[in-house]
Amino acid sequence: MTTAESAQFDVVVIGGGPGGYATALYGASAGLSVAVVERDKVGGTCLHRGCVPAKEFLETATVVRTVAGAKEFGVNAGQPVVDFGTSQGRKQKVVDQLWKGLAGLMKGRGITTFEGTGTLHPGHLVAVEGADGVTEITGRHVVLATGSAPRTIPGFEVDGRVVMTSDEVLALEALPASVAVIGGGAIGCEFASMFSDLGTQVTVLEALPSLLPACDPDVVAVVARSFRKRGIAVHTGVGVTGHTPGGSGTTVTFGEGESVTVDAVVVSVGRRPLTAGLLAEGTGVELDSRGFVVVDEHQRTTADGVWAVGDVVDTPQLAHVGFAEAIVVVKSVLGEAVVPVDYTRVPWCIYCHPEVAYAGLTESQAREAGFDVVVKKDPFGGNSRARIVGETDGLVKVVAEKGPDGRAGRILGVHMAGPWVTEQLGQAYLAVNWEATPDEVGQFIQPHPTLSEAFGETVLALTGRGLHVG
Ligand code: NAI
Repeated sequence: MTTAESAQFDVVVIGGGPGGYATALYGASAGLSVAVVERDKVGGTCLHRGCVPAKEFLETATVVRTVAGAKEFGVNAGQPVVDFGTSQGRKQKVVDQLWKGLAGLMKGRGITTFEGTGTLHPGHLVAVEGADGVTEITGRHVVLATGSAPRTIPGFEVDGRVVMTSDEVLALEALPASVAVIGGGAIGCEFASMFSDLGTQVTVLEALPSLLPACDPDVVAVVARSFRKRGIAVHTGVGVTGHTPGGSGTTVTFGEGESVTVDAVVVSVGRRPLTAGLLAEGTGVELDSRGFVVVDEHQRTTADGVWAVGDVVDTPQLAHVGFAEAIVVVKSVLGEAVVPVDYTRVPWCIYCHPEVAYAGLTESQAREAGFDVVVKKDPFGGNSRARIVGETDGLVKVVAEKGPDGRAGRILGVHMAGPWVTEQLGQAYLAVNWEATPDEVGQFIQPHPTLSEAFGETVLALTGRGLHVG
């Protein structure tokens, strides 16, 4: 066992994904000495096997749709043909550039990166098992940020060829002719949309009664309608019972004796925390029954000076939530005033086509929480920019608390589906989190013609007097 030269740090972070690297970057900006232990590449799931590569492929899908629709604009480009090898190469280039940028940024901030697998021992000691043996480092504080891995279901052993998770899909060399996507959540809908646009025949099998079960039903209806129009077969409320490999693919059985024969199966039924081997005996860090690290609202684990952020804790598994939790940890370590993350109001963005973006309560969640509500919707069909770009499917829906005078008060939730809504969520997110009212937000000007006018119009309508929305 070796001891690193500078073995004592203010903060040792185990895991270099968004939660871990954000802790390191923010901590180093504040003058803390920080070490990051990473066994693979800094950037984690988000950069290498998740958000970034998935959105890059979804952009390829957008290019295909744009070229296929070019004729309507008087641009004759012919039918697009996908050379998936080139697409895969571009994706990798984007990922590698961001990875090198991140590694350079961390180095520039004076963060020490240890390559290897970290295990926390009592006394804030972290043993790093690397290629050259074990190195021991200690931190005044230790942050657990080991992330998550795709869940699988019994009977669907991942072989990377016929049965895949997001990890394998994002590394594909060639496109399958047909896929069954098990799970119609965020990952399932993004992959269904991407594969369909790239020419693969897609069947989605979702156990719950609707796609994207966490989203507002008005938003889900937009995605479901688009999927239907594009020939994606969606079966909701169905249990998947197994699969029988045959030929070059497999036959998946579901529901009441139904089946579909496909080249490949994509399992997207959620992600599990990665805590195996993370904790030696006697650390005092508690895990819950599903293996998540138990934390309080300041990300403190049950062991003094040990914190946890990102997918390894049971909060929304989103990179930007990991960033926010990292900031909470660093401020807490510094003894500064901290506002804990309000998980009911974080921004959610799903990059399928049409895109989905939302923050705050859905209409039914608001009613269940006891609010009397006022709701307005503005479909993108009436928005000039949406007509210009030729993307009119979708809507903006704003849910506000009904005041004693019957007028719309505090904005409780904003739910969007349609063109570039992931880029429009910012002001809706601020409105929800600032607990702004339509009277306050409605006085601000939206540039014309923009897609973001749909949000402005909806809010203005909630004041009782709208321009284009009644
Ligand atoms: P998810 O929890 O969003 O969706 C999983 C879906 O699978 C659920 O709708 C569930 O009802 C269904 N399901 C579970 N077991 C099933 C079964 N045996 N048969 C059929 N359906 C079944 O999980 P997902 O999509 O795998 O994503 C994992 C995490 O990654 C999410 O929690 C999300 O936070 C994050 N993510 C976020 C994205 C975004 O915001 N753009 C994109 C991708 C992932």
